[in-house]
Amino acid sequence: MKLNTLGIAHQFLEAHVPEGGLCIDGTMGRGKDTAFLCQLVGERGKVIAFDIQPEALQSTDTLLREKGLRERAELRLQSHAEMDTCAEAGTVDAVVFNFGYLPGGDHKIFTHPDTSIQAIEKALQLLKEGGCVVACIYQGGDTGYEERDALMEYLKGIDSKRYTVIVADFRNRPGDPPIAAFILKAI
Ligand SMILES: C[S@@+](CC[C@H](N)C(=O)[O-])C[C@H]1O[C@@H](n2cnc3c(N)ncnc32)[C@H](O)[C@@H]1O
Repeated sequence: MKLNTLGIAHQFLEAHVPEGGLCIDGTMGRGKDTAFLCQLVGERGKVIAFDIQPEALQSTDTLLREKGLRERAELRLQSHAEMDTCAEAGTVDAVVFNFGYLPGGDHKIFTHPDTSIQAIEKALQLLKEGGCVVACIYQGGDTGYEERDALMEYLKGIDSKRYTVIVADFRNRPGDPPIAAFILKAI
């Protein structure tokens, strides 16, 4: 495992996503997480991925084709705040968010607290019992601290009788490393 935010997020997903599962990538970007999920769910599984930028869909489409995974994914040019239209409540194994801006893209287009929180709310409804949301939350740099602060506040208020929320940050590393947040639909 790589000892960084993405590494621990992927390890958590490996432990929770079953073969044949249904997963959602709420921020497909260049498609690395979509491809990772497609590998986890295998030939019988499915991944639905969202992004608001056509450039992200093109990159993800290309990556999935190169890896022979394209048939396992449905790519949607749509906000993750509308993800409730893509699956029935209680049917999804895992939802992934990698907030922020498109790597190598326009740094002025990035995720925003209001739509990110709406998307997590919808993700929680879509999850099966025992399912999880895994989010990488960026801070500092071009995105600032607004989204991090809003998400941290929101996570603290999630119903503790239905969900378990764990936040992992790299406390002794310099700068502003991204934070991993895990929400399990289990207590
Ligand atoms: C850090 S990138 C994701 C990286 C991606 N997981 C990968 O593996 O390359 C964040 C993405 O979120 C997208 N995004 C921003 N607002 C969004 C929204 N409301 N709904 C869906 N995607 C959004 C951006 O266009 C950007 O591509």
